[in-house]
Amino acid sequence: MISPASIRFTAATKRFADAEVVSSVSLDIPAGEFTALLGPSGCGKTTLLRMIAGFETMSEGTLHFGDRLVAGAATHVPPEDRGVAIVFQSYALWPHMSVGENVGYPLRVRGLPRAEQKARIAEALLAVDLEGFEARRPADLSGGQRQRVALARCFAMEPSIVLLDEPLANLDVHLRASMEETFRQFHRRTGATMVYVTHDQAEAMAMADRIAVMQKGRLLEVAAPAELYARPRTEAVARFVGNGRIVECRIAERVDEGRRRVEVLGTSAVVRSTPDAPARAETARLCLRAEGLALAETGGFEARVLASTFKGAYSLLVVELLAAPALSLSLSLHAPTPGVIGSIVRVAITDGWILPLPPSAGAARQPVPVSTPESADA
Ligand SMILES: Nc1ncnc2c1ncn2[C@@H]1O[C@H](COP(=O)(O)OP(=O)(O)OP(=O)(O)O)[C@@H](O)[C@H]1O
Ligand SMILES: [Mg+2]
Repeated sequence: MISPASIRFTAATKRFADAEVVSSVSLDIPAGEFTALLGPSGCGKTTLLRMIAGFETMSEGTLHFGDRLVAGAATHVPPEDRGVAIVFQSYALWPHMSVGENVGYPLRVRGLPRAEQKARIAEALLAVDLEGFEARRPADLSGGQRQRVALARCFAMEPSIVLLDEPLANLDVHLRASMEETFRQFHRRTGATMVYVTHDQAEAMAMADRIAVMQKGRLLEVAAPAELYARPRTEAVARFVGNGRIVECRIAERVDEGRRRVEVLGTSAVVRSTPDAPARAETARLCLRAEGLALAETGGFEARVLASTFKGAYSLLVVELLAAPALSLSLSLHAPTPGVIGSIVRVAITDGWILPLPPSAGAARQPVPVSTPESADA
């Protein structure tokens, strides 16, 4: 069985030549946790993963597995002594070997007795629901089954940490959903500490205990999926997760501990906030999402319908504000949309989240301009 290890980065920095691609990341992953590393392309996810595996040295900072220092100023434990297994996007299976031989390959290299090899191969294939597939060749398997063989091979090595770098990127949408369940099951059955790199937030939300969001080499936030979605701490996370729009608002009144009445986009709405949000403030930033907007008979603000898309379970309506045509917002509607393109509708704000002030911000904060998602990664 696997005995999981915790992973602790302290101020980890990685430079290639003079480019800093990971900047002072401090991250604590408890033993046995399933953590997703989420962020746009090029933000440093794979580099961070490679530092855990030992394929990259660290320029600064330390890395511990439990109490054991594995990387630091004068320390670099080689990959083979770290007890870490990696699953890549390309399954990296030997085509001339059977499934059983692929899974058992690392055990053979280590010279384990044949009986133990056999038992471990059987156990590993069971963990990924591939019992009875020992004799098949990789060529005779589906993409999802090949990825499960790669997972079984890593399980057979009994690693204390399992790293996965976008393992579903090559699979189609339907297969992805069933593989998400496979990864969750694998995690439950093995109890391994898992770090799963993806730029797909839906994938991260569906599987992870906690999500660590990265941007431009920095760690922005670490939180459980529901928390990250409902109460992002930073503007970048609010935009990246759930496609939030950030608009400026005025806090007019404290409704109760976690709610404030705000004036925003020419209308008034009750939205969520941290308990310590001020009762009144001239400027604050409000995160709006498609499911927090609704069509209204009266009140709200006026907007023109730009696009209307039937999505099956819901419809997505894209509108621009009459008062600020540069600002487009999306609404998800459960009824079939009445959305005639070009028509004028009224939109009410049914939910929103006031972003907490950054710790450095005082009363005399500069007003924050209204932003659009296009500027999110600028
Ligand atoms: N060996 C290297 N030498 C120089 N630069 C590198 C090297 N490896 C990665 N980089 C740069 O470091 C940055 C982060 O790369 P990394 O592969 O970690 O990103 P990522 O978040 O995994 O992106 P993606 O989602 O596209 O896989 C990129 O700008 C990349 O070009
Ligand atoms: Mg990558």
